[in-house]
Amino acid sequence: MTQDPTKTVRVELGDRAYDILVGPGLIGRAGTLAAPLLRRKRVAIVTDSHVAAHHLDTLKASLDGAGIRHDSVILPPGEQTKCFAILESLMGDLLQMGLERGDMLIAFGGGVIGDLTGFAASILKRGIDFIQIPTTLLSQVDSSVGGKTGINTPQGKNLVGTFYQPRLVLADTDVLKTLPMREFLAGYAEVVKYGLIADRAFYDWLETHIDALKAGDQTARIEAIETSCRWKAKIVAQDEREGGVRALLNLGHTFGHALEAATGFSSDRLVHGESVSIGMVLAFDLSARLGLCPGQDALRMRRHLERAGLPTRLDQVAGGLPDAHELIELMGHDKKAVDGKLTFILGRGIGEAFITQDVSHADLMEVLSRQQAA
Ligand code: GLY
Repeated sequence: MTQDPTKTVRVELGDRAYDILVGPGLIGRAGTLAAPLLRRKRVAIVTDSHVAAHHLDTLKASLDGAGIRHDSVILPPGEQTKCFAILESLMGDLLQMGLERGDMLIAFGGGVIGDLTGFAASILKRGIDFIQIPTTLLSQVDSSVGGKTGINTPQGKNLVGTFYQPRLVLADTDVLKTLPMREFLAGYAEVVKYGLIADRAFYDWLETHIDALKAGDQTARIEAIETSCRWKAKIVAQDEREGGVRALLNLGHTFGHALEAATGFSSDRLVHGESVSIGMVLAFDLSARLGLCPGQDALRMRRHLERAGLPTRLDQVAGGLPDAHELIELMGHDKKAVDGKLTFILGRGIGEAFITQDVSHADLMEVLSRQQAA
């Protein structure tokens, strides 16, 4: 008999603790896995049309098999879906279905569906339970875990939302087989992030397993996702509401945010994981420039991201970027700025990130201009 390769990671949050399951075939087991969490056998699935086309029938069959009644809301794919107008129509649909407080939502999709559905769950009837079934690598290793929910507004991304934890996360590695390589790599940037923040041994492992991961090796993929989720779970358990250590998860994001803003959040030009990749390289370059991190480590992480196939330089951003002054200006619009001061996550080396607000304008200018001149 072959062993079930599924791994479980626990997010230790007291009476709101939950499991993240990582492995193949989990969508097909969703009904059985959800059933013990339900007060009555009734759920609503929220998904997008891409995910629905590939995987909704499997999820529905699984719920049918467990005798769970279900309705679905199928939304348009893309970041534009995370808005007030769609939230409003989603809430209308869910209320129309007659969902009760003890019922459950299933967020079935990538980060957009997870964030929107989690937010809807947190406010519907003052809060109903939800399960995350993330269908991209990025959402499996980052956004489905830790309870950040929200929508975008004209003022910026994720400025309206809640902290609201799911009851269960099912990271089905089979869905990654239909994920375009660009999306896979965008998620991979977040995987590398955990190694860079806290786990040099994991980072070393990634360097030797990148080809297997890209080629679809199931054991390697499960290990990479499990380890990433373990780190995220550990950090979230220490600091659920980002008063401190959770900010480490923003490695590369202060720079990345400016790049996304400069490209009009256009996924044709730059997707989130790509901006994080370039941002992490800039963070390590800055750390090396400040004499905090060995230059070797900065070079090594850049080479690894390059070899993986991720962008690592500003000149790789399609359509070009504004100059360093303007990029710094855009960084100032990051919602994580405190008292107008920018927070940076820098490295003392691979596996040793730390939080600082002590970065001068001149050093930032130097690091950005050097890349732009290269
Ligand atoms: N994506 C960063 C966090 O969940 O805190």
